[in-house]
Amino acid sequence: MRLQNKTAIITGGAAGIGAATTATFVREGAHVIIWDVDEQRGREMEEKHGNVQFQHVDVTDRSSIAQALAAARAQHPRIDILINNAGITRDATLVKMEEPAWDAVIDINLKGVFNCAQAVAPEMVAQGSGVILNAASVVGLYGNFGQSNYVASKAGVIGLTKVWARELGPKGVRVNAVAPGFIATDMVGTIPEKVIAAIRAKTPLARLGEARDIANAYLFLASDEAAFINGTTLSVDGGLVA
Ligand code: CAA
Repeated sequence: MRLQNKTAIITGGAAGIGAATTATFVREGAHVIIWDVDEQRGREMEEKHGNVQFQHVDVTDRSSIAQALAAARAQHPRIDILINNAGITRDATLVKMEEPAWDAVIDINLKGVFNCAQAVAPEMVAQGSGVILNAASVVGLYGNFGQSNYVASKAGVIGLTKVWARELGPKGVRVNAVAPGFIATDMVGTIPEKVIAAIRAKTPLARLGEARDIANAYLFLASDEAAFINGTTLSVDGGLVA
């Protein structure tokens, strides 16, 4: 039990990598608070896992974050871990990308991370410990066709991780990012099959990742085993970016 009695907030915890991370953290002894806009899947996670609480939170809405955090804090004396996992794609080439697609991705994937971290970090600083983990992506490291908005958001998240590691490290709070490769979730389901085949061919481990591959990376980085790891971005991509 590597997260015994820890309280973790996982944004986007109702589905995909977030749901796998929720399940992994509960198994390791954590209490998980899911911040998500998907009420139905969030409630299903509550029913499926004993130690999960769903709160309807839109990461772009700072008042919804503040309210949820206040309610969570009334029940939990500490917030030990924040995983900024919520994210979307709205893929299009530069020439075809419409402004709402740019704005939605930047708002959720980049500003949403800022909003949640800014709300939770003071709690962690006050208690003198905590872990913030951000969802980056391999495409934030090497770019990707058709993803101006998403790549900008994920490269931004990698930068924020380095800034916050410097600002919060001295206060006992570690900040790291995970850069997933292509993981078999609904998000990757939108990619044309020929592109998927090309990705598989370029991946030395010759498969897409599973959500649990990323959940295990979050588990390691959230645990005390990673006590001296701060400001890094851990690629979990089967060697795609070697
Ligand atoms: N590299 C080079 N050329 C490519 C390409 C690629 N990856 N993908 C498409 N092209 C080429 C096409 O072959 C086509 O060429 P021609 O005009 O000569 O025929 C041209 O670019 C236009 O491509 P499309 O017909 O696909 O253009 P579109 O406007 O219909 O669609 C797109 C563009 C939406 C970006 C679509 O190509 C697409 O969905 N690509 C996949 C994007 C992707 O990889 N998204 C990752 C989602 S998962 C994720 O983001 C999680 C994570 O963290 C990794």
